[in-house]
Amino acid sequence: MIMNATELLRLHAEDHPYLSRYAEMIASATERGAEITRQILLFARPDSAQLRPLSLSQLAAEVCQLLRHSFPKNITIETVWEGDNDFILADWSHLHQVLLNLALNARDAMPDGGTLTIRVDRERGENLRTRFPESGPEEYVAVHVSDTGVGMDEATRAHIFDPFFSTKERGKGTGLGLAIVYGIVQNHRGFIDVQSTPGQGTTVTLYFPATSPPARSVPPPEEAEQGRSGGTETILVVEDEEAIRETLQEILSSAGYTVLTAANGMEALDQYQRHQQDIALVITDLHMPSMGGKELMKRLQEIQPTLKVMFATGSLDHCSPSAVLEDGANAVITKPFRIQELLTTIRKTLEDRPVSYLEGEEA
Ligand SMILES: Nc1ncnc2c1ncn2[C@@H]1O[C@H](COP(=O)(O)OP(=O)(O)OP(=O)(O)O)[C@@H](O)[C@H]1O
Ligand SMILES: [Mg+2]
Repeated sequence: MIMNATELLRLHAEDHPYLSRYAEMIASATERGAEITRQILLFARPDSAQLRPLSLSQLAAEVCQLLRHSFPKNITIETVWEGDNDFILADWSHLHQVLLNLALNARDAMPDGGTLTIRVDRERGENLRTRFPESGPEEYVAVHVSDTGVGMDEATRAHIFDPFFSTKERGKGTGLGLAIVYGIVQNHRGFIDVQSTPGQGTTVTLYFPATSPPARSVPPPEEAEQGRSGGTETILVVEDEEAIRETLQEILSSAGYTVLTAANGMEALDQYQRHQQDIALVITDLHMPSMGGKELMKRLQEIQPTLKVMFATGSLDHCSPSAVLEDGANAVITKPFRIQELLTTIRKTLEDRPVSYLEGEEA
């Protein structure tokens, strides 16, 4: 919930009326701790890395789409794609996190606005040899993330990859962003180059070994989601924790959905009876006092056997997606989840498309 609220903060422009509320929500929880947990959770699960050919420019386009909604209006986002084959063997969510971390740093470096440019091109390995002696003879795909911000002096530049090194005020930065970037890039056999001039801006360039495009020209499923992650259906959200409920409501209505909410199973049944014609999907917490998610699903499906139900489980619940699915749910999402992951799972569920679950969670 802290994580989603933080993401929401980023999704809303600074003058947004909800902003101060979410800021309060976050302040009352330990933001710093949550951020650290989030970053470490992602990073500490290399087993969940799924290496597949992915197009860096497609990934960058997806990140930019997210940024355009959330960055202050005085920051212009530009993208440049050069060359046709920009496929690398990579884990989509890890690389998504990498580009996001770089973009957020660029944003923070431009408090008075400026331009963020993401450029993707190719570089021959031999041209990298002087800077990165370990580079092989193969071709590399490069992604350059540039800002026109405050830049860094050499003293700062020397420490940016150190865990917990941050020049941001307490509560604003954990100093883990670039440490995570570094770790993930290493795991992908890549290299990082940082060019920065105080007062002018910074360019962070990542190089990854190029791979051939997938045999079929069909993009991997996640990439195909781009631009269609929202919808207009009506969704009933059942969640006893107010903050999570409100966060979910805000995420889903921002994505275009009509959202009804219920704080417990009885309220949910009541809402369902009143809006049965409209409700396309019920998202319910698994554990709630008095009536849990499974019992609620049973009661709802007695009323409407074809009703789609999605469970939101805590990561500490230790219940595998497959077990929950056997109980009759259409989909499961494990908290904490990323907004994109949530929206993608919802779309797939509504369209009767298969939802894939990380193998690590099946155990
Ligand atoms: N684009 C940039 N322009 C200027 N300085 C930067 C840029 N990117 C990183 N830095 C410097 O490097 C430091 C470390 O960055 P890093 O992303 O690791 O942590 P953070 O942004 O401070 O916190 P977090 O990313 O965990 O929220 C920053 O505090 C900042 O001083
Ligand atoms: Mg950062």
